Amino acid sequence: MVSLLHGDVIPELQARGDELFGRIFFTPEGFADPIPLYRMFREEVPVHLSGFGGAILSRYEDCRALLRDPRFGNGDAGPGSGFGDGESEASRYRKEMVERRKGRPTSMLGLDPPDHTRQRSLVSRAFTPRTVDKLRPRIAQIVDECLDDLEASGGGDAMQLLAMPLPVSVISEMLGVPQADWPTIRDQVTDLVGSLEPSASKEELEKAEEAGAVLWQYFTGLLDTRRQDPQDDLFSALIAAADGGDKLSDGEILAVANLLFAAGAETTTNLIGNGLHQLLDHPDQMEALFANPDLVPSMVEEILRYDSPVQLDGRACLEPAEIAGLQFEPGDRVLTLLGAANHDPSKYDRPDEFDISRYHGPDGAEPVMSFGSGIHYCLGANLAKVEGQEVFAGLVRRFGRIDAAGERTYRNRLVLRGLNECPISVGSR
Ligand code: HEM
Repeated sequence: MVSLLHGDVIPELQARGDELFGRIFFTPEGFADPIPLYRMFREEVPVHLSGFGGAILSRYEDCRALLRDPRFGNGDAGPGSGFGDGESEASRYRKEMVERRKGRPTSMLGLDPPDHTRQRSLVSRAFTPRTVDKLRPRIAQIVDECLDDLEASGGGDAMQLLAMPLPVSVISEMLGVPQADWPTIRDQVTDLVGSLEPSASKEELEKAEEAGAVLWQYFTGLLDTRRQDPQDDLFSALIAAADGGDKLSDGEILAVANLLFAAGAETTTNLIGNGLHQLLDHPDQMEALFANPDLVPSMVEEILRYDSPVQLDGRACLEPAEIAGLQFEPGDRVLTLLGAANHDPSKYDRPDEFDISRYHGPDGAEPVMSFGSGIHYCLGANLAKVEGQEVFAGLVRRFGRIDAAGERTYRNRLVLRGLNECPISVGSR
């Protein structure tokens, strides 16, 4: 059980921390705008020992130190498993899910070294800055096709027309998934990642498990096809690497394929959606972007910081460790509030202000915490940024203005934070 290194737990403070965490991750108030609640959390209970037995960190340096510490990792549980400690129907179901997952092939996200290192090094070649930069022209082309649809209709739901199709198309092309299957994969991935939310109901968890099974079956078919008829794609490269050096089992290849969609699709969709939302909410920043398109890379960083597509990360303790004033024992769980770290005033000037020029120029602000830190630092960070940059550069190039054309609401999800819909109209100035 996690304990304080100095002093005793103050029950009122513990109750307050649990209340704030509940409001952030389980209520419409938190889904709509977690920033004020994060501020209270950081100020009142920056290092929180929760009633559920785990710890919650919210300051930038604490989150960073924890995520980089080799005494913390996955252990024998996977992502999202730390939420199954309650007595609700969903918690019980989640515990069963975690049990069922044990012993199955796992992707790098759920592994510790040395297995993590071996798997990541085989896949990482496809995600170096140089490799990703070579994809830029093709990404720009897919963006252009999406913008054609937006232009033809004078606008529409930017989630459906732009934010959702782009990332799935890009990962599908990298892996070699035939175009006809992209929409089906997209829907399954949306269901799959629902299990990452602490607020997921039993029905959502069941849906996620079903989606996982469907995707697994789909990729098994693709594995057979590519083994017989290799192509110039990542799937074939993974098979070749595995067959050559016996480094990845078939199960691991399938787990990696699943992970690339699960980790890369909805997150990047939400980078685009959250970006549009914030620009529409801050007309002065929209104006500044249209006036100076060189701000696009800085704007993408600022979106990642201000309204991160991933708000929560976490680890299990693997060996006794003292960190952030806490004593951890093996098996203890700890959550890191990435969204709160991204607004830490000790790291960012005017942290709750959306300023798209914050990262412009040589003295850019502190890197964002949105991609995590340490050995699990997001493998697709370069790719996500290039996709975001091409989208916003394309929008500015193509249109003279972008306006809101209806209500925008956030989904009832906060680990992966993003909009349901983003109705816009586009036109010339
Ligand atoms: C804005 C978009 C994205 C965000 C905010 C994001 C965020 C993250 C975060 C926070 C982690 C670390 C999880 C942990 O510490 O346990 C992570 C890991 C990962 N991400 Fe991303 N991600 C994004 C896009 C992508 C894309 C486009 C891909 C690839 C197609 C991708 C692939 C991965 C992989 C493979 C890992 C696991 C790395 C490992 O375990 O070593 N991500 N991502």
